[in-house]
Amino acid sequence: MIDPRHFRDVLGTYPTGVCVITAVDAAGKRHGLVVGSFSSISLDPPLVGFFPDKKSSSWPLIADCGRFCVNVLGAEQLELCKRFAAKAEDKFADLAHGLTPAGMPLLDQALAWLDCTIERITDIGDHLLVVGAVEALGKRDEGTPLLFFRGGYHDLACLAG
Ligand SMILES: Cc1cc2nc3c(=O)[nH]c(=O)nc-3n(C[C@H](O)[C@H](O)[C@H](O)COP(=O)(O)O)c2cc1C
Repeated sequence: MIDPRHFRDVLGTYPTGVCVITAVDAAGKRHGLVVGSFSSISLDPPLVGFFPDKKSSSWPLIADCGRFCVNVLGAEQLELCKRFAAKAEDKFADLAHGLTPAGMPLLDQALAWLDCTIERITDIGDHLLVVGAVEALGKRDEGTPLLFFRGGYHDLACLAG
């Protein structure tokens, strides 16, 4: 039997970036979810993925949209990360942001964005694997990523030090 705390501690030594998955539903309501499990999957065809917890209240609402935008967070976006990682009725309250070509929320200062349609959802343990087909994508040429490692937030300068 694997102790859950030990599992988290061991897996926490694998550093990840942090993304906010955003979407707008048919009624115009915006949804957002922080994930550290984002990954590139395939170049041809271009596919990316992430693992939402089955207990996430935001994921089913994003799934209903049929598409999503991956916003890769920069080191200065820690407050934004905390906002989208907390449960809230409207995570976008009083938040100015742009729109991607597909009309999904594009967070100001995001290092990169990817407009995706949902290609596949697979049931895996207590999470889902969501695969997105990339339709459009872009990046900023400056900025450093927000990193998550051993249960805390870091930036590249901190890890180098
Ligand atoms: C750094 C970080 C990484 C996270 N990675 C994931 C993830 O990969 N999948 C997931 O379902 N939740 C992840 N979470 C937790 C969700 O962001 C959080 O439980 C969720 O936003 C709760 O709100 P919801 O009920 O509106 O979905 C992560 C949180 C943080 C702070």
